[in-house]
Amino acid sequence: MASLSSFICHHHHLLLFLFAAVVAAAVFTTKAVTADDNMTHLHFYMHDILGGSNPTAIEIVKGPVALPSVPGVNFGNLIAIDDALTEGPELSSKPVGRAQGFYMSTAFQEASLLMSVNFVLAADGPYNGSVVSVQGRDPIAAPVRELSVVGGTGQFRMARGYVLWKTYDGNATNGDGVLELDVYVTTDSGRRAPSTTPTAITQSPAVHQSSKSTSTSLRSEFVILLISITICAFLL
Ligand SMILES: *[C@@H]1O[C@H](CO)[C@@H](O)[C@H](O)[C@H]1NC(C)=O
Ligand SMILES: *[C@@H]1O[C@H](CO)[C@@H](O)[C@H](O)[C@H]1NC(C)=O
Ligand SMILES: *[C@@H]1O[C@H](CO)[C@@H](O)[C@H](O)[C@H]1NC(C)=O
Repeated sequence: MASLSSFICHHHHLLLFLFAAVVAAAVFTTKAVTADDNMTHLHFYMHDILGGSNPTAIEIVKGPVALPSVPGVNFGNLIAIDDALTEGPELSSKPVGRAQGFYMSTAFQEASLLMSVNFVLAADGPYNGSVVSVQGRDPIAAPVRELSVVGGTGQFRMARGYVLWKTYDGNATNGDGVLELDVYVTTDSGRRAPSTTPTAITQSPAVHQSSKSTSTSLRSEFVILLISITICAFLL
């Protein structure tokens, strides 16, 4: 014990360095998002159509301030949507629901939207008209955006979760876009949403590794370091 204590005392700089290295490694390997077996994973495409004769996204308010860095986008633009959700990226692929809500341009320095939308899942599909409510920030130039699932109804009552939001395709001329969405959601008591039929839009879960083990080992490293420092201080 004495030799361990003296080792700790004489090498506490080394131990601190090792601890810092462990923290750094944990920070860089820990994903901000996790999914477990109890999460439902929905995957579908959203067709945000502003142009043409049948738009499903309509500008309600033209914002008063042009964004210098993003030509054609104004701060405060408000667009109401009732966009088709489909199983595949083509608009003609199987419909799985609608995305109803609005988005507003809410950043001065970049094109970033406040998105507030209900995914109304098809009544004839596995989720029988249930709704997943999503709100979040969508900085549209980022390759993957993370938005929050803030609630739900029906089979998604008490839903919590997140959406990984990607632009699959876009037309810079008329603003049309196809978004690829991965929705990860748990319902009350942390269970997967019950599905009435086998579903094409539900994917297997556990796409992301859990960070639980990393944070647990990080916590024990921290406790060991604290004990070491205490022993060290006591001996000196
Ligand atoms: C589907 O929803 C309808 C209308 O809300 C309801 O009457 C029906 O019982 C539901 N079916 C299932 C299998 O949950
Ligand atoms: C993009 O939008 C413009 C204007 O509506 C249209 O002429 C053009 O065909 C579109 N491009 C694609 C690839 O759909
Ligand atoms: C999954 O749900 C079951 C039943 O509610 C629960 O016992 C289990 O702890 C949950 N698993 C996780 C990883 O949350």
